[in-house]
Amino acid sequence: MKIACIGTGFVGVVTSAVFASHGHEVIGLDIDENKIKSLSEGKVPFFEPGLNELLKKTLNEGHLTFTNSYKNAITDAEMIFIMVGTPSAADGQADLKYVFSTAESMAPYLKENAIVVIKSTVPPGTNEQIEKIIKQKTKTTFTTASVPEFLREGSAVEDTLHPSRVVIGTTDKKTGEKISQLHQPLSNKIIIMKPESAQMAKYASNTYLATRITFINQIADLCEKNGADVEEVAAGIGEDPRIGTHYWYPGFGYGGSCFPKDVSELAAYSRAVGESNNLMNKVHQLNLARAPYLMKKLDQKVGGWKNKQVAVLGLSFKPNTDDTREAPSIAIIEYLQQHGAQILGFDPKAKWVGKTTNFSQKNSLEEAVINADAIIAIIEWPEIISFDFCKTRLSKPQFFIDGRNQFDPTTIKNCGYTYLGIGRE
Ligand code: UGA
Repeated sequence: MKIACIGTGFVGVVTSAVFASHGHEVIGLDIDENKIKSLSEGKVPFFEPGLNELLKKTLNEGHLTFTNSYKNAITDAEMIFIMVGTPSAADGQADLKYVFSTAESMAPYLKENAIVVIKSTVPPGTNEQIEKIIKQKTKTTFTTASVPEFLREGSAVEDTLHPSRVVIGTTDKKTGEKISQLHQPLSNKIIIMKPESAQMAKYASNTYLATRITFINQIADLCEKNGADVEEVAAGIGEDPRIGTHYWYPGFGYGGSCFPKDVSELAAYSRAVGESNNLMNKVHQLNLARAPYLMKKLDQKVGGWKNKQVAVLGLSFKPNTDDTREAPSIAIIEYLQQHGAQILGFDPKAKWVGKTTNFSQKNSLEEAVINADAIIAIIEWPEIISFDFCKTRLSKPQFFIDGRNQFDPTTIKNCGYTYLGIGRE
């Protein structure tokens, strides 16, 4: 199939490479010439496991090319995927300006019976708006659909090659069949529904997961008041098949480019449609307050952050990515800066881009913990959780803050640290 992928951000590059790896003829389009140049040379401008290899392979096989010309990308395309950014607007809802300008730019070149698929995260009602924009510029017959993205950073290639499900939002039977055909080699769970339902499914999925994390974080706070261990509590309830054991690991709060944005967009959407007194409006606020709340609580336990040397381990928002957007490290480092600590940061991939007051980034974990009064292990990077912290233990008192409950408290205590976990003493 001839496919055009518009937007070569995270979702765009992964999706283009995966479709091309299945033998489709894919053209990736972006208005950013530097991105096009770098991708055409086989260079992914961010870190994502397995993606560079897949990009090079599909470029070499000739199934994937990149362009900044709408004419080149759209003229022969049977299916066009819109994967441009939808940043939050001032009122908190998704700003659709890039989606709309994409629709406008592609319209004059659309082939007869082309299918325009929206993969960007957009609110219900966007398909009609797109159709209206395109119809103003062409008489060509086309259909639209919404196929939301569920991949996770750090495992994006795997998630796209083997998605847990493919949700297709369309009211046109033929369009649904054609999009199903394209995805059949990837998944046997293909669910066709109305575009509005597909768009709500995307927001609801991220908001549910974010709520689940917020819930376990709050249970952790209660456990600290009564001596319970949140890990034991989670195990005790997770075996209920209605609940499940994973994806609710407590910590300093969720981050990334998706959960914070999608939860607050759904909250803003709720307010706009007169449903302001709902859960969505609370979850984002609770998550924003999470890291400062824990840092304040820890302040008392470590005897004040002022003049303490603190090793902050894990700057990215999760392991296996160099993405620091909305990472908990940001709120933690800013708190430490405001409270007079000296901060030594370490991350296997991510670079600190915030204020550098009292902060220096180290190339190795050893350098970050050298002379530390407190170590905060925020992210469960394999390099961090497999490190032998007993080896670097000093003779002075040292606090070990296990921000992800990844370490065995007894082992850490036995080598002389004061261990402080999340929701466990
Ligand atoms: C998330 C969703 O998981 C994807 O399904 C979705 O496609 C994507 O957003 C998106 O909308 O594009 P992602 O942001 O890559 O994916 O990362 P997750 O692995 O879901 O983690 C999000 C945040 O939650 C991270 O900060 C992570 O550390 C945190 N988290 C995750 C927890 O605090 N506890 C957990 O148990 C799990």
